Amino acid sequence: MPASSGLSARNAASPDAGPPLGTASDPNAPIAPRDGGPDCDRCENRRWVLDAHGELKPCPKCGVAQRWRMDALRAFSSRSELSTQQTLFNFKTSFAGAEIESLGNCLEAAQDFAESPDGRWLVIWGTRGNGKSHLCAAVDNHLQAAGTPSLFVTMSDLLASLKEAFDLQSNTEQETYSGRLRQFKTAPVLILDDLGAESSSAFSQGIVFEILDYRYRNRLATMIVTNVPLNAFDPRVASRMQDSSFCTVIENTAPDFRARPVAER
Ligand SMILES: Nc1ncnc2c1ncn2[C@@H]1O[C@H](COP(=O)(O)OP(=O)(O)OP(=O)(O)O)[C@@H](O)[C@H]1O
Ligand SMILES: [Mg+2]
Ligand SMILES: [Zn+2]
Repeated sequence: MPASSGLSARNAASPDAGPPLGTASDPNAPIAPRDGGPDCDRCENRRWVLDAHGELKPCPKCGVAQRWRMDALRAFSSRSELSTQQTLFNFKTSFAGAEIESLGNCLEAAQDFAESPDGRWLVIWGTRGNGKSHLCAAVDNHLQAAGTPSLFVTMSDLLASLKEAFDLQSNTEQETYSGRLRQFKTAPVLILDDLGAESSSAFSQGIVFEILDYRYRNRLATMIVTNVPLNAFDPRVASRMQDSSFCTVIENTAPDFRARPVAER
């Protein structure tokens, strides 16, 4: 029973989360939400449940759990000082008075995805420096502000994180290799920057396929940004991206922003 298991687990594992739950007469009785969140019949407002392995998990049902999920995902994020400044509003689509159609199309696709990411994939590919990472960060910032748990991560940070866990061989849930891999596979929204820039080692290719195949099969919202044209990807990955029933692929043909005169930016 999630209710009773959630109680004992929380009392044992979260000493700083407030006084023990329940009452002296019935320690498993539902409690009133004390955090301003919604009533939840799954966790009886404890916000935590025990999974089949006896591990404490944020309750998957109630809204407060979303917040905690966001915090957990943030530990793996590539968010930076710069990325928090990059928004859908400061992404320019015209320079020196001339509209660049491709940038308008990319911005529109990113806006659509950010508004309703559920069950959709968005792939943007193009040359260096033309705003792809900016759009990743902008979508992530939009989703975070809306309270949607999203994970913005570069392919190199993702692989480094997995390799680190592999080397550490540690055994807390967040630190295990499989725990980290699960975060990337199951994040409600994954924003993967610079796919294809990783090495072509069997390890990297295997990870990419495992994550994307899982997300494809479970129709989990995914934004992918890359310098690599679709036909240069692992055919198994390219095939999934070509499923136009839920994946939008868009080319960014704009030139390198970094090469623009500062006065034009
Ligand atoms: N259309 C744009 N409007 C405003 N800023 C932009 C635009 N395009 C690029 N920039 C800025 O230019 C810099 C480089 O852009 P960004 O990092 O998004 O390029 P990229 O396509 O991801 O490049 P790379 O392929 O090398 O990773 C960033 O500081 C970004 O904010
Ligand atoms: Mg980039
Ligand atoms: Zn709940």
